Amino acid sequence: MKGLILSGGKGTRLYPLTYTRAKQLIPVANKPILFRVIDAIRDAGIDEIGIVIGDTGPEIREAVGSGDRFGVKVTFIPQEAPLGLAHAVKISQDFLGEDRFVMFLGDNVIQGGISPLIADFANHHDWNSQIVLTRVDHPEQYGVAQLTAGGRIERLVEKPKEPLSDLALVGIYMFDHHIFEATAAIKPSWRGELEITDAIQWLVDHGYQVFPHIHTGWWIDTGRPDDMLTANSLVLEELTPEIRGYVDSGSSVDTRVTVEKGAEVIGSTIRGPAIIGEGTRIVNSYVGPFTSIYHHVTIENCEIEHSIVLENSTLCDIDTRIQGSLIGRNVELHRSPIRPRALKLTLGDYSKVGLL
Ligand code: TTP
Repeated sequence: MKGLILSGGKGTRLYPLTYTRAKQLIPVANKPILFRVIDAIRDAGIDEIGIVIGDTGPEIREAVGSGDRFGVKVTFIPQEAPLGLAHAVKISQDFLGEDRFVMFLGDNVIQGGISPLIADFANHHDWNSQIVLTRVDHPEQYGVAQLTAGGRIERLVEKPKEPLSDLALVGIYMFDHHIFEATAAIKPSWRGELEITDAIQWLVDHGYQVFPHIHTGWWIDTGRPDDMLTANSLVLEELTPEIRGYVDSGSSVDTRVTVEKGAEVIGSTIRGPAIIGEGTRIVNSYVGPFTSIYHHVTIENCEIEHSIVLENSTLCDIDTRIQGSLIGRNVELHRSPIRPRALKLTLGDYSKVGLL
């Protein structure tokens, strides 16, 4: 089998962070989501992976390289524009050939890896496709599947007004080469995209065997900032803690905390689950649960929890606790001693700031 990761797209829901960076490279518990996806596919025994890239392609190529460091061979597949998930499959035909493959959205995080589902599909040679589904509370917000009495997929509907079931599509799909007949036959939807749900429905309507795999652990599509924070919390909960940096005797660091190599914690309290990245300094501060501080960040005289801070940022002398925040790269946040006491902001387009 081969792997296909979709890493194009625009990431508009994560503006302004994704103006300057591919959303798939935003770290969750200090590891880019895309790297987690590559690891999951490799751990399922697949070592040939195609990555569909768009405008942020150069950044993704640089971060992933040949795939050697992950123990896989990576082929990049440029997509001229985000014309839909089925379009991404269509343009990957040369890479995929006649092989069966797993397609994984490069911004999704799933609990427990994908080895069980790959094994399920690999063991059923007569199945043409397998779709991963999970039970959700609000099916009207998702692509939803209706099953036959025999447990096969019968119908897929995007954001149904009247729920057909509570089984939503997770961003993981397995196909054989018949999917290319579907992607050649379907037409763009009202939003101008070749929809993967239409391609799967085409398979069902033409007598191909499409089966579900019901995933029972958590799964997060990190489309919006809150999803990113939720994914971060869930992954932090599962991290094996490790202290590889320096913690001074005046600090209190809880057992569920990872302090990476070259990080320094001085006169501070860190409550887990949390991770402090390489070369980061936490001085006279409080870092609370569900917080990931990426590499080369300085946090001094601050309190922060349930947040993600990206690389090379500095947070200093803030007397209000920072919470539920997603802070980008090279951000400077500090209290200025100069009067008058006023907010002095340089915020990018689409920034969101909640003041007391
Ligand atoms: P989406 O989250 O549906 O789209 P997006 O990334 O453009 O985000 P937004 O809606 O906030 O603008 O995409 C899911 C994943 O699939 C994501 O990793 C991007 C990727 N993708 C492609 O590679 N090609 C495409 O044509 C589309 C639509 C998405």
